Amino acid sequence: MTHIGRCRAHTNIALIKYWGKRNEELFLPMNSSLSLTLEAFYTDTEVVLDDNLDSDIFYLDDIKQSDKETAKITQFLNLFRDLANIKTRACVKSYNHVPTAAGLASSASAFSALAGAMNQATGLDLDLKTLSTFARRGSGSATRSLYGGFVEWYMGEGDESDSSHAIPVDDASWDIGMIVIAVNTGRKKLSSRVGMKHTIATSPFYSSWVETATSDLTKMKDAIKQKDFITLGEITESNGMKMHATMLGAFPPISYWEPDSVKAISKVKEIRETGIPCYVTMDAGPNVKVLCRQSDMDKIEALLLEDFNREQIIPTQVGEGIKLISDSDWNY
Ligand code: DP6
Repeated sequence: MTHIGRCRAHTNIALIKYWGKRNEELFLPMNSSLSLTLEAFYTDTEVVLDDNLDSDIFYLDDIKQSDKETAKITQFLNLFRDLANIKTRACVKSYNHVPTAAGLASSASAFSALAGAMNQATGLDLDLKTLSTFARRGSGSATRSLYGGFVEWYMGEGDESDSSHAIPVDDASWDIGMIVIAVNTGRKKLSSRVGMKHTIATSPFYSSWVETATSDLTKMKDAIKQKDFITLGEITESNGMKMHATMLGAFPPISYWEPDSVKAISKVKEIRETGIPCYVTMDAGPNVKVLCRQSDMDKIEALLLEDFNREQIIPTQVGEGIKLISDSDWNY
C-alpha cells in the first residue's frame, strides 16, 4: 500500500536573525527571530510511503542523493513515523525552484515542504503551529517557512521542544518587496550550523548579540504593527550587521563577505541617499538582500543595473505559507 503527500514551501529571509542554538539536538534557538517569506524561491516535495521499500530514497531535482544526504531525511521522517507509530519507508522527491543565479537553495523551504508532505502522507494532520516544531528539527530557519508574510519564530522555554514554534505576525501586504543581489552563487564554505556553533564558543560579543536581537525583535514587531517601513528597514539592516559583527569577533574570525558584498551594500546606501528607502541584510553567504517597498522595486533595479548584471538582480514579492499540491497540479 502507498500513501502520498505533496507540499510547496517558500523560503524566508530573516530580518531579525537566528544565529545559535541553546540545544543542538532539539534545534532550540538562543533568541526569537523574525522573517519575511519570499514568493520567488520555493521547494516542491512529494513523499510516497510505500510498504514495499526497505529503506528511504531521496531524489533532489531528479538526482538520487547519497546515503549521507538520505540519512538526514530518514532522521527527520522518523520524527513523524514515531508519532504515527509506523515503520513504512518513503520515496522522497524534492524540486528546488531558485533562479539559477540566486545561490539561495535553502534548507528552510526544503524542510518545511518535507514536513508538510509527510504530515499529509502519514495522515497525522498536525496543525501549522505543531508542524513548525517538526520543521525546526530539520533546520532552524525552516520553522518560519510554514507561514507567509512576516513570521516570528518564538524561541520557547528551556528544553521544551513543543514551546519553540512559528507565529504568523502580519501578511506583509502593505507594499513590501525584496531584491536579491547575487554576488557569488557557489556553495558556502562554512555552513550556518558550524558557523553559529563556533560563534557561541568563541565570540566575546555573543551575549550582547542575544540581548540586542531580543530588543530589536520587540521594536520590529511594533514597527510592523504601525506599518512603519522606515523603522522596519533600519532595524533589519542594523540587526544583520550586528550578527556579522558578532561572527567577526569569533576566534578565528568568521566572515561570509566578499568584495562584491561591500560593493552592493555601498550601492544600496547610495540609492537610499537619493530618497528611496531600501535596506540590506545578509546571511551565511556573500549575497545581499535588499528590503524595499514593492512599488520602488523597478526604480531600485534600474539603479542596481548600473553596477551589476541582469542575472545578479532577482526581485521577489512576499510569499505565502505552505500549500498542499493536488494530483493534477503535480507537474513533474
Ligand atoms: C544566517 O537554519 O540554516 O540564515 O538550524 O543549523 O539548519 P540550522 O541553521 P539555518 O541557519 C540560518 C541562519 C541565518 C539566519 C536566519 O535565517 O535566521
